[in-house]
Amino acid sequence: MNIASNFTSKLPDVGTTIFTTMSKMAQEYNAINLSQGFPDFNPPSLLMELAAKYMQKGHNQYAPMAGVMKLRERLAEKNEFLYGAKINPETEITITAGASQAIAAAVTAFVHIGDEVIIVEPAFDVYQPLIEVNGGKVVPYRMEAPHFKIDWQAFEQLITPKTRMIVLNTPHNPTGAILEAQDWQALSKIVNNTNILIISDEVYEHIMFDGKEHQSLLRFPELWHRSFVVFSFGKTFHCTGWKMGYVAAPEYLMKELRKNHQFSIFCVNHFIQEAIAEFLADRSYYEQLPHFFQVKKDLFGQILTNTRFTPIPTYGSYFQLADYSNISDESDIDFAIRMTKEHKVAVIPVSVFYSNDENEKRNHMNTKLIRFCFGKTEQILQQASEKLCKI
Ligand SMILES: Cc1ncc(COP(=O)(O)O)c(C=O)c1O
Repeated sequence: MNIASNFTSKLPDVGTTIFTTMSKMAQEYNAINLSQGFPDFNPPSLLMELAAKYMQKGHNQYAPMAGVMKLRERLAEKNEFLYGAKINPETEITITAGASQAIAAAVTAFVHIGDEVIIVEPAFDVYQPLIEVNGGKVVPYRMEAPHFKIDWQAFEQLITPKTRMIVLNTPHNPTGAILEAQDWQALSKIVNNTNILIISDEVYEHIMFDGKEHQSLLRFPELWHRSFVVFSFGKTFHCTGWKMGYVAAPEYLMKELRKNHQFSIFCVNHFIQEAIAEFLADRSYYEQLPHFFQVKKDLFGQILTNTRFTPIPTYGSYFQLADYSNISDESDIDFAIRMTKEHKVAVIPVSVFYSNDENEKRNHMNTKLIRFCFGKTEQILQQASEKLCKI
């Protein structure tokens, strides 16, 4: 019996992600990898020492299902300090295998077959397949270049009786756009008197530029009771490969999410949780992060002024979009591939952040935008500079 012809894929349109493809190509063609969103430097050495210490001390077996209590307490304190949020660490915080697993658990726990979920495009690539594999229907709201703002009146038109959830992301990957207080207030009015849930993906909370403060959903109690707020230790501590993060949500939602978490993964890395709990006692690390990344953003901005790329303003995250229409008429995918092969700098084409509607995709291919990740060492950015100037 041929098993391959006797099953139906739950995700027939999903292939290898562009991030994997571009990183692989970067290696193959010996190109500088400004494509995938991870730093090329290590986490703070103290954090690595603490991880080793807690491993040696024997924190090598299963952690508590929802996470090490000391870590959850530290996170509750941090969110009260930063955003004035009152979160119960016992019932309202769960430590997860990165922000991705937090999002997966929330979607799996709440999206039923036929439910509609609004996502904001261009969108981080995990949202759509996660919604679809659970039988949900993705309803995209499309932000337009170059400002990438949400027009809340237009957004409201997408809401129907089937809308189960809205997924938002600030600071935003790939555009570097951010949500301001008035965005959350507008959303609050729209969802008032509905049963709509919100996922707020805030993995870049500490990468904010030019003195702007991150407007976490946690600052808005009127939205908290319907929300999952998702964070990533990978992005905050430069350790994306550790795949650690957490989610905060009110108790009644967290109870359902934990049913999923409990049986899909049960718990995440024990000694790293202990290490992060101790490391977080000192606020100075995350307080200096905006400055740390501002230096990189300014350097990369300076580099782009000596090229034919036109940068799109970025307000947060370690991404910079750039328009290449002064350079080429190619589609963004062809251009990104050629940049990697010929010019030895790997980037991500922006059309891949739009959902699988071929017509729409074609429209957005006309926007001629690529994404750079500047969360790299100065040395790498300088090397990239030499290559980008010649394009
Ligand atoms: C917007 C956004 N959300 C979530 C994630 C995933 O975070 P994690 O690696 O913690 O799962 C990423 C990673 O690039 C991201 O850009």
